[in-house]
Amino acid sequence: MSTGTGGAYWQGKALPSVFKHELLRRYIPPFGGMTSTQARDRRVVYLDGYAGEGRYQNGDPGSAEIALRVATHYQPRGLNLSCFFVEQQAKSFERLQQVLRGYVARGVEARAHQGEVDDVLDDVVHRAQGVPLFLFLDPCGLCLPMERLVDVLARRRPEKRPATELLMNFSMMAVRRLGGHVKSPKGNERSLERFDAVCGGRWWREYFAGDRVDVEDAAEAVAAEYARRLRQQTNMFVQSVPVAKAPHHKAVYHLVFATRSPYGLWVLGDAAARARTEWWKTLELQEEEKEPDTLFSTVSVLRPDPEVVEKEAVPVMAANLEVLLRAGRPIKLVDHTLELFGSYFGQVTEPAARKAVKYLHSEGKTPSTGVGGDKTRELVVQPPRH
Ligand SMILES: C[S@@+](CC[C@H](N)C(=O)[O-])C[C@H]1O[C@@H](n2cnc3c(N)ncnc32)[C@H](O)[C@@H]1O
Repeated sequence: MSTGTGGAYWQGKALPSVFKHELLRRYIPPFGGMTSTQARDRRVVYLDGYAGEGRYQNGDPGSAEIALRVATHYQPRGLNLSCFFVEQQAKSFERLQQVLRGYVARGVEARAHQGEVDDVLDDVVHRAQGVPLFLFLDPCGLCLPMERLVDVLARRRPEKRPATELLMNFSMMAVRRLGGHVKSPKGNERSLERFDAVCGGRWWREYFAGDRVDVEDAAEAVAAEYARRLRQQTNMFVQSVPVAKAPHHKAVYHLVFATRSPYGLWVLGDAAARARTEWWKTLELQEEEKEPDTLFSTVSVLRPDPEVVEKEAVPVMAANLEVLLRAGRPIKLVDHTLELFGSYFGQVTEPAARKAVKYLHSEGKTPSTGVGGDKTRELVVQPPRH
């Protein structure tokens, strides 16, 4: 299985990367802000384990430069983002180092290693002792074995503080491709075994073993089961967000997010919804560039209006809240992110949650008005008085 990126990859950003990068750009600062107080010198360790070139040939920032920009921007405000980058390919590594040099000269703490992420992971975890750690793992093919992730997340960093979080690319293209070989491995046995290790067992093969397998459904089921197992083995919140090349297309990959912080989960969902809007805008722009004379682009027709999506989401989220309140106890929103947002997690932004509280109040199902208070996520909603 290929682990590299072809020459075209770094010429300009493909659409799935727009979403991934927007999410990173929006999420690293609040992660740093929320967790840096857990370390004495406000140091936060950030590892980009499959960093690539750092910058596209058209000047757009890649994942590495996005982190470096965050580090530069927030340094004067006291955040000390200590960045580690790993890249295997010599040419990409050389370019990455060039990007790094400019930031290091400006005082950003950043270093790059040429080689396998697995070789430096232990060292980075060691250096992150006593400080928050964010792992961004974005391979083009298969990621680290489950056992390796569990070792870091559950054995070496089992505590809530200092925080540990993971954002990982789980390639759906790889799952589909490998799934296609399950019934007749012919020469692909080594790749299948590598994926066994990624999944922590051969369990995933069963999803592709039947006679009339829908490859798409099977791949989605494998991704869901993978997230469930990671959740179970690390005792973290694990949520995955599908990323596609175009609207209504199958996901190219899932971004798997793991955290022990309910705040992390809340903020990531909000960041993902905002990143999605950016993704749609880029899509529309690209289409306009390709066909400037079209009156209504396909995208503008397909694009779900965020306001319409929110209108749909609010009553559904209010119903989710109603279910939560059945226990008869007050509910602090941030403690129930996934139950509250349900299928709208990563689809609608934070204000939808406050609107859901107001909606429920208007239906007489909670005395809480949803008005005032500090942050939406801190709202405490009371059960109905009987
Ligand atoms: C999808 S690209 C990274 C894109 C980059 N994260 C971004 O968003 O700008 C994956 C990179 O991982 C590198 N790579 C593949 N296997 C690796 C490994 N075991 N350790 C470190 N880097 C690896 C590839 O050479 C490639 O440049």
